[in-house]
Amino acid sequence: MSYSSRDRLAGKVAIVTGAAHGLGAETARVLASQGARVAIVDINLEAAQGVVAEIEAAGGEAMAIKVDLTSESEIMGMAEAVEQRFGRIDVLHNNAAALDVPQRQADRDVCNVSIEAWDRALDVNARGAMLCSKHVVPVMLKTGGGSIIHSTSGFGQLGDVTLTAYAASKAALMALSRSIAAQFGKKGIRSNAIMIGFVLNDHAQKTVPEEIKQILLAQHLTPQLGSPRQIADVVAFLASEESSFITGATIPVDGGFTSHSPAMVPLSEYFERQGSNKL
Ligand SMILES: NC(=O)c1ccc[n+]([C@@H]2O[C@H](COP(=O)([O-])OP(=O)(O)OC[C@H]3O[C@@H](n4cnc5c(N)ncnc54)[C@H](O)[C@@H]3O)[C@@H](O)[C@H]2O)c1
Repeated sequence: MSYSSRDRLAGKVAIVTGAAHGLGAETARVLASQGARVAIVDINLEAAQGVVAEIEAAGGEAMAIKVDLTSESEIMGMAEAVEQRFGRIDVLHNNAAALDVPQRQADRDVCNVSIEAWDRALDVNARGAMLCSKHVVPVMLKTGGGSIIHSTSGFGQLGDVTLTAYAASKAALMALSRSIAAQFGKKGIRSNAIMIGFVLNDHAQKTVPEEIKQILLAQHLTPQLGSPRQIADVVAFLASEESSFITGATIPVDGGFTSHSPAMVPLSEYFERQGSNKL
């Protein structure tokens, strides 16, 4: 089977949370293009329906479900609806996060993070992922297991000067992923986290200042920042049987952002000025 074969995920049913926009939407399109039937789960139903229409126009199968991930009853209803429509669940991609501009601006250093922003980040990003896992794992077990993929960030691993709540929520997801891997591995469920670098989705293209893009690009080892497709391809791999011996892992998909010394950029500039990298 070729690497991007249309039937690589044939027969599988996938849930992607936060799939109405950004990386989740691209991942849903890629999973569907490889044969999975996909549930597009998002708080924004209209945009989720737009992604379903795109998938169907390309010959795939998908359904849109409106869910606020802070509501356990809505999440339970979502898992039931997917099982009812598609008969099984094989893949859960915990991708959704509260990342809109007001949320990011209220989530600053620990003395200046609003309690509402803290609660919302933890509620949507971590508690929501836990609840989706809680209600999807029993459905996966009925058919012998599945693959759960959690979207985390370098913020969950490294200290930084802002986004305190977001960072805590992403660290929680890494722990959640390992707990699920340990608790359900013997029953056929794999759980992995992907630690994503800076990816220019449509929203980031418009809302992130150019200077910040350049600061972040300098810290990536790749010529460009990430694209949604580069993330979606890794999720598709982790959803597929090709990754069947990978579980409990946190995999950087970040262009080397978290792989190098913090001194690398200023040192490179220093060496540039000196005309040599002799130490
Ligand atoms: N884009 C990046 O550079 C980057 C970097 C590191 C990690 N990530 C992670 O990747 C994932 C996707 O990021 P993105 O850039 O595509 O974000 P995005 O803001 O474009 O998409 C997030 C989606 O989550 C949905 N959502 C928000 N609150 C919700 C709720 N309460 N219930 C249901 N859905 C809700 C939104 O409607 C939206 O469709 C996130 O987990 C993010 O933390 C992204």
